[in-house]
Amino acid sequence: MSKKEKSIELLNKAVADELVAVHQYMYFHFRCDDMGYDLLSGLFKRTAIQEMMHVEQLAERILFLKGEVEMKPASDIKHIHDPKEMLETATMMEEGSVNDYNKWANECAANADSVSKKLFEALVAEEEVHQDQYETELDNLGKFGANYLALQSIERSKSVATGAQPAGE
Ligand SMILES: [Fe+2]
Ligand SMILES: [Fe+2]
Repeated sequence: MSKKEKSIELLNKAVADELVAVHQYMYFHFRCDDMGYDLLSGLFKRTAIQEMMHVEQLAERILFLKGEVEMKPASDIKHIHDPKEMLETATMMEEGSVNDYNKWANECAANADSVSKKLFEALVAEEEVHQDQYETELDNLGKFGANYLALQSIERSKSVATGAQPAGE
């Protein structure tokens, strides 16, 4: 396998993981929206959109290297209904991406592909922000328990009653 092919393979693996994140976070978004948890619903939606932009950046690099963008999700999504489990899963997914992209940045550097290396490094920084955001919400849920979720439902009711835009949209 040439150095270029190795980079294309790693970039496609990243696309596969990002597609799972897009699907999983959109699923969490629909579920949270349905339960009236606007803050979580909005966070999952915004993050899903950012993961979609990661797919785009990776795809552009693959095309520049004259590769094919496979666009195959690495796995099916999990049908999780519990907000705590959602946040735990999302945190683990981000942690996995941070580890993989750090490793793949080093592999690209070893292959003298510094642009792919920089792309992976830039993605690591953004996945760390996602991880931090999910951990913060997980902490809040741990600290405030059911009140944390109740408050989000009450905010939804308030904005419906007053005709205001729901938070997090
Ligand atoms: Fe991502
Ligand atoms: Fe992420």
